[in-house]
Amino acid sequence: MRTVHTLKELRTMLRGYRLKGKRVALVPTMGNLHEGHISLVRRASETADIVVTSIFVNPMQFGAFEDLDNYPRTLQEDQEALERAGSTLVFTPANSEIYPDGLARHTRVIVPEVSEGHCGASRPGHFEGVATVVTMLLNMVQPDVAVFGEKDFQQLAVIRKLTRDLMMPVEIVGAPTIRENDGLAKSSRNGYLSKPERAIAPVVYQTLQDAAEKIRQGRTDFSMIEWEASQALIYAGLRPDYFNIANSLTLKPATEEDAEVTLLVAAFLGATRLIDNLSLSR
Ligand code: PAF
Repeated sequence: MRTVHTLKELRTMLRGYRLKGKRVALVPTMGNLHEGHISLVRRASETADIVVTSIFVNPMQFGAFEDLDNYPRTLQEDQEALERAGSTLVFTPANSEIYPDGLARHTRVIVPEVSEGHCGASRPGHFEGVATVVTMLLNMVQPDVAVFGEKDFQQLAVIRKLTRDLMMPVEIVGAPTIRENDGLAKSSRNGYLSKPERAIAPVVYQTLQDAAEKIRQGRTDFSMIEWEASQALIYAGLRPDYFNIANSLTLKPATEEDAEVTLLVAAFLGATRLIDNLSLSR
Protein backbone atom coordinates (compact mmCIF):
# COMPACT_ATOMS: atom_id res chain seq x y z
CA MET A 1 0.00 0.00 0.00
CA ARG A 2 1.36 3.43 -0.97
CA THR A 3 0.59 6.73 0.75
CA VAL A 4 0.67 9.88 -1.36
CA HIS A 5 0.22 13.49 -0.30
CA THR A 6 -0.03 15.47 -3.53
CA LEU A 7 -2.39 15.53 -6.48
CA LYS A 8 0.59 15.10 -8.79
CA GLU A 9 1.68 11.83 -7.14
CA LEU A 10 -1.94 10.64 -6.99
CA ARG A 11 -2.48 11.23 -10.71
CA THR A 12 0.79 9.52 -11.63
CA MET A 13 -0.21 6.40 -9.68
CA LEU A 14 -3.77 6.40 -11.05
CA ARG A 15 -2.58 6.80 -14.65
CA GLY A 16 -0.61 3.56 -14.30
CA TYR A 17 -3.66 1.67 -13.00
CA ARG A 18 -5.91 3.05 -15.71
CA LEU A 19 -3.49 2.04 -18.46
CA LYS A 20 -3.79 -1.51 -17.14
CA GLY A 21 -7.60 -1.23 -17.38
CA LYS A 22 -8.15 -1.38 -13.61
CA ARG A 23 -11.47 -0.40 -12.00
CA VAL A 24 -10.93 2.23 -9.29
CA ALA A 25 -12.94 2.81 -6.10
CA LEU A 26 -12.71 5.79 -3.74
CA VAL A 27 -13.47 5.73 -0.01
CA PRO A 28 -13.37 9.31 1.34
CA THR A 29 -12.67 9.58 5.10
CA MET A 30 -11.42 12.03 7.67
CA GLY A 31 -9.24 9.38 9.30
CA ASN A 32 -9.43 8.11 12.90
CA LEU A 33 -10.72 4.95 11.31
CA HIS A 34 -12.94 2.38 13.01
CA GLU A 35 -14.67 -0.79 11.85
CA GLY A 36 -17.33 1.24 10.06
CA HIS A 37 -14.71 2.78 7.75
CA ILE A 38 -12.97 -0.55 7.30
CA SER A 39 -16.26 -2.07 6.13
CA LEU A 40 -16.42 0.66 3.45
CA VAL A 41 -12.93 -0.26 2.24
CA ARG A 42 -13.89 -3.96 2.16
CA ARG A 43 -17.07 -3.10 0.22
CA ALA A 44 -14.97 -1.03 -2.22
CA SER A 45 -12.48 -3.85 -2.75
CA GLU A 46 -15.35 -6.20 -3.66
CA THR A 47 -16.34 -3.95 -6.55
CA ALA A 48 -12.99 -2.59 -7.79
CA ASP A 49 -9.37 -3.65 -8.42
CA ILE A 50 -7.88 -0.53 -6.88
CA VAL A 51 -9.12 1.12 -3.68
CA VAL A 52 -8.05 4.68 -2.98
CA THR A 53 -8.80 5.81 0.59
CA SER A 54 -8.56 9.52 1.20
CA ILE A 55 -7.81 10.86 4.65
CA PHE A 56 -8.45 14.59 4.89
CA VAL A 57 -9.91 16.45 7.86
CA ASN A 58 -11.88 18.94 5.81
CA PRO A 59 -11.91 22.37 7.50
CA MET A 60 -14.76 23.59 5.24
CA GLN A 61 -17.30 21.26 6.84
CA PHE A 62 -16.57 22.32 10.43
CA GLY A 63 -18.65 25.09 12.01
CA ALA A 64 -17.12 28.01 13.90
CA PHE A 65 -17.78 26.33 17.27
CA GLU A 66 -16.87 22.80 16.19
CA ASP A 67 -13.54 21.48 17.28
CA LEU A 68 -11.50 21.16 14.08
CA ASP A 69 -8.15 21.48 15.87
CA ASN A 70 -8.87 18.64 18.31
CA TYR A 71 -10.26 16.26 15.67
CA PRO A 72 -8.28 13.03 16.26
CA ARG A 73 -5.47 12.50 13.76
CA THR A 74 -4.17 8.89 13.86
CA LEU A 75 -2.43 8.44 10.50
CA GLN A 76 -0.09 5.61 11.48
CA GLU A 77 -2.87 3.41 12.96
CA ASP A 78 -5.13 4.31 10.04
CA GLN A 79 -2.48 3.23 7.52
CA GLU A 80 -2.03 -0.11 9.28
CA ALA A 81 -5.79 -0.76 9.37
CA LEU A 82 -6.17 0.23 5.70
CA GLU A 83 -3.36 -2.06 4.62
CA ARG A 84 -5.03 -4.99 6.43
CA ALA A 85 -8.42 -4.10 4.86
CA GLY A 86 -7.04 -4.15 1.31
CA SER A 87 -6.69 -0.47 0.42
CA THR A 88 -4.25 0.01 -2.48
CA LEU A 89 -3.48 3.68 -2.04
CA VAL A 90 -3.93 6.28 0.70
CA PHE A 91 -4.30 9.91 -0.36
CA THR A 92 -3.68 12.25 2.53
CA PRO A 93 -3.28 15.79 1.23
CA ALA A 94 -2.33 18.87 3.24
CA ASN A 95 -4.80 21.75 3.55
CA SER A 96 -2.67 23.79 1.13
CA GLU A 97 -3.08 21.08 -1.53
CA ILE A 98 -6.89 21.20 -1.34
CA TYR A 99 -7.46 24.88 -0.57
CA PRO A 100 -4.35 26.65 -1.96
CA ASP A 101 -5.98 30.09 -1.83
CA GLY A 102 -7.68 29.55 1.53
CA LEU A 103 -11.26 28.60 2.35
CA ALA A 104 -12.85 32.00 1.82
CA ARG A 105 -11.69 32.23 -1.81
CA HIS A 106 -12.54 28.67 -2.77
CA THR A 107 -15.45 27.73 -5.07
CA ARG A 108 -18.25 26.01 -3.17
CA VAL A 109 -20.84 23.40 -4.12
CA ILE A 110 -24.36 23.95 -2.76
CA VAL A 111 -26.87 21.11 -2.91
CA PRO A 112 -30.39 22.46 -2.34
CA GLU A 113 -33.26 20.75 -0.50
CA VAL A 114 -31.66 17.50 0.75
CA SER A 115 -29.00 19.60 2.52
CA GLU A 116 -31.73 21.51 4.36
CA GLY A 117 -33.30 20.27 7.60
CA HIS A 118 -31.97 17.60 9.97
CA CYS A 119 -28.18 18.07 10.39
CA GLY A 120 -28.24 20.80 7.73
CA ALA A 121 -30.42 22.94 10.00
CA SER A 122 -28.23 22.43 13.08
CA ARG A 123 -24.89 22.72 11.29
CA PRO A 124 -25.13 25.63 8.83
CA GLY A 125 -22.58 25.32 6.02
CA HIS A 126 -21.68 21.73 6.93
CA PHE A 127 -23.09 20.08 3.81
CA GLU A 128 -21.68 22.84 1.62
CA GLY A 129 -18.25 21.86 2.97
CA VAL A 130 -18.93 18.16 2.47
CA ALA A 131 -20.32 18.65 -1.06
CA THR A 132 -17.36 20.82 -2.05
CA VAL A 133 -14.64 18.47 -0.81
CA VAL A 134 -16.39 15.34 -2.13
CA THR A 135 -16.75 16.97 -5.56
CA MET A 136 -13.03 17.76 -5.51
CA LEU A 137 -12.05 14.26 -4.34
CA LEU A 138 -14.20 12.71 -7.07
CA ASN A 139 -12.56 15.00 -9.64
CA MET A 140 -9.08 14.25 -8.33
CA VAL A 141 -9.44 10.46 -8.23
CA GLN A 142 -12.05 10.07 -11.01
CA PRO A 143 -13.15 6.71 -9.57
CA ASP A 144 -15.61 4.32 -11.18
CA VAL A 145 -17.31 3.92 -7.82
CA ALA A 146 -17.26 5.72 -4.45
CA VAL A 147 -18.43 4.20 -1.17
CA PHE A 148 -20.03 6.11 1.73
CA GLY A 149 -21.62 4.92 4.98
CA GLU A 150 -25.39 4.90 5.44
CA LYS A 151 -24.74 6.01 9.02
CA ASP A 152 -24.49 9.55 7.58
CA PHE A 153 -27.79 9.18 5.77
CA GLN A 154 -28.26 12.84 4.87
CA GLN A 155 -24.66 13.12 3.67
CA LEU A 156 -25.22 10.13 1.38
CA ALA A 157 -28.39 11.75 -0.01
CA VAL A 158 -26.48 15.01 -0.63
CA ILE A 159 -23.69 13.15 -2.46
CA ARG A 160 -26.12 11.12 -4.57
CA LYS A 161 -27.86 14.32 -5.64
CA LEU A 162 -24.72 16.28 -6.40
CA THR A 163 -23.25 13.51 -8.58
CA ARG A 164 -26.58 13.20 -10.43
CA ASP A 165 -27.07 16.96 -10.85
CA LEU A 166 -23.46 17.56 -11.95
CA MET A 167 -23.53 14.53 -14.30
CA MET A 168 -20.49 13.01 -12.64
CA PRO A 169 -19.68 9.61 -14.13
CA VAL A 170 -19.40 7.74 -10.84
CA GLU A 171 -21.50 5.11 -9.11
CA ILE A 172 -22.29 5.98 -5.48
CA VAL A 173 -22.60 2.98 -3.17
CA GLY A 174 -24.08 3.23 0.33
CA ALA A 175 -22.75 0.69 2.84
CA PRO A 176 -24.73 -0.40 5.91
CA THR A 177 -24.03 1.02 9.37
CA ILE A 178 -21.78 -1.14 11.53
CA ARG A 179 -22.98 -1.41 15.13
CA GLU A 180 -21.58 -2.42 18.50
CA ASN A 181 -23.20 -5.50 20.10
CA ASP A 182 -25.59 -3.25 22.03
CA GLY A 183 -26.74 -1.47 18.85
CA LEU A 184 -24.71 1.75 19.11
CA ALA A 185 -23.62 2.84 15.63
CA LYS A 186 -19.83 2.83 15.28
CA SER A 187 -18.52 6.38 15.09
CA SER A 188 -15.30 8.25 15.73
CA ARG A 189 -17.31 10.29 18.23
CA ASN A 190 -18.02 7.28 20.47
CA GLY A 191 -14.45 7.68 21.71
CA TYR A 192 -15.46 10.98 23.34
CA LEU A 193 -18.07 9.28 25.59
CA SER A 194 -17.33 8.76 29.29
CA LYS A 195 -18.08 5.31 30.74
CA PRO A 196 -21.51 6.30 32.13
CA GLU A 197 -22.37 8.04 28.82
CA ARG A 198 -21.31 4.99 26.84
CA ALA A 199 -23.74 2.91 28.93
CA ILE A 200 -26.62 5.25 27.98
CA ALA A 201 -25.71 5.65 24.28
CA PRO A 202 -27.50 2.51 22.94
CA VAL A 203 -30.79 4.27 23.78
CA VAL A 204 -30.39 6.23 20.52
CA TYR A 205 -30.78 3.11 18.37
CA GLN A 206 -33.37 1.64 20.74
CA THR A 207 -35.48 4.78 20.31
CA LEU A 208 -35.24 4.47 16.52
CA GLN A 209 -36.35 0.85 16.71
CA ASP A 210 -39.27 1.64 19.02
CA ALA A 211 -40.48 4.42 16.71
CA ALA A 212 -40.08 2.18 13.64
CA GLU A 213 -42.16 -0.49 15.35
CA LYS A 214 -44.98 2.02 15.93
CA ILE A 215 -44.95 2.84 12.20
CA ARG A 216 -44.90 -0.86 11.27
CA GLN A 217 -47.96 -1.33 13.47
CA GLY A 218 -49.78 1.18 11.28
CA ARG A 219 -49.48 4.47 13.14
CA THR A 220 -49.31 7.50 10.85
CA ASP A 221 -49.26 10.27 13.47
CA PHE A 222 -45.60 10.93 12.70
CA SER A 223 -45.34 14.18 14.71
CA MET A 224 -46.58 12.40 17.80
CA ILE A 225 -44.13 9.51 17.27
CA GLU A 226 -41.30 12.05 16.88
CA TRP A 227 -42.36 13.75 20.13
CA GLU A 228 -42.56 10.42 21.99
CA ALA A 229 -39.09 9.46 20.74
CA SER A 230 -37.65 12.82 21.86
CA GLN A 231 -39.22 12.34 25.29
CA ALA A 232 -37.66 8.86 25.54
CA LEU A 233 -34.24 10.34 24.72
CA ILE A 234 -34.65 13.10 27.32
CA TYR A 235 -35.79 10.55 29.91
CA ALA A 236 -32.59 8.53 29.28
CA GLY A 237 -30.43 11.61 29.83
CA LEU A 238 -29.82 12.78 26.25
CA ARG A 239 -30.53 16.19 24.74
CA PRO A 240 -32.24 15.60 21.38
CA ASP A 241 -31.25 17.94 18.57
CA TYR A 242 -33.92 16.42 16.33
CA PHE A 243 -35.86 13.23 15.82
CA ASN A 244 -37.44 13.33 12.37
CA ILE A 245 -39.45 10.92 10.25
CA ALA A 246 -38.75 11.73 6.60
CA ASN A 247 -39.36 10.54 3.07
CA SER A 248 -36.28 8.39 2.37
CA LEU A 249 -35.53 10.02 -0.99
CA THR A 250 -36.38 13.69 -0.52
CA LEU A 251 -35.72 13.81 3.26
CA LYS A 252 -38.81 16.06 3.51
CA PRO A 253 -41.22 15.33 6.42
CA ALA A 254 -42.92 11.97 5.81
CA THR A 255 -46.56 11.89 4.80
CA GLU A 256 -49.10 9.07 4.97
CA GLU A 257 -48.49 8.38 1.25
CA ASP A 258 -44.77 7.67 1.63
CA ALA A 259 -43.87 4.00 1.19
CA GLU A 260 -40.20 4.43 2.15
CA VAL A 261 -39.46 6.41 5.27
CA THR A 262 -36.30 7.08 7.24
CA LEU A 263 -36.12 7.99 10.89
CA LEU A 264 -33.22 10.34 11.59
CA VAL A 265 -31.94 11.33 14.98
CA ALA A 266 -29.24 13.56 16.43
CA ALA A 267 -28.85 13.87 20.18
CA PHE A 268 -26.25 15.18 22.59
CA LEU A 269 -24.89 12.95 25.29
CA GLY A 270 -22.89 15.36 27.41
CA ALA A 271 -20.84 17.28 24.85
CA THR A 272 -20.92 14.50 22.24
CA ARG A 273 -23.41 14.71 19.38
CA LEU A 274 -24.52 11.26 18.24
CA ILE A 275 -26.43 10.63 15.01
CA ASP A 276 -28.18 7.54 13.70
CA ASN A 277 -31.00 6.55 11.35
CA LEU A 278 -33.25 3.68 10.39
CA SER A 279 -35.10 3.16 7.10
CA LEU A 280 -38.24 1.13 6.62
CA SER A 281 -40.84 0.27 3.98
CA ARG A 282 -44.52 0.77 4.85
O1 PAF B 1 -18.05 11.26 6.26
C1 PAF B 1 -16.93 11.83 6.33
O2 PAF B 1 -16.00 11.37 6.98
C2 PAF B 1 -16.74 13.16 5.62
O3 PAF B 1 -17.87 13.95 5.70
C3 PAF B 1 -16.27 13.01 4.16
C4 PAF B 1 -17.31 12.31 3.29
C5 PAF B 1 -14.96 12.24 4.13
C6 PAF B 1 -16.01 14.39 3.55
O4 PAF B 1 -15.04 15.10 4.25
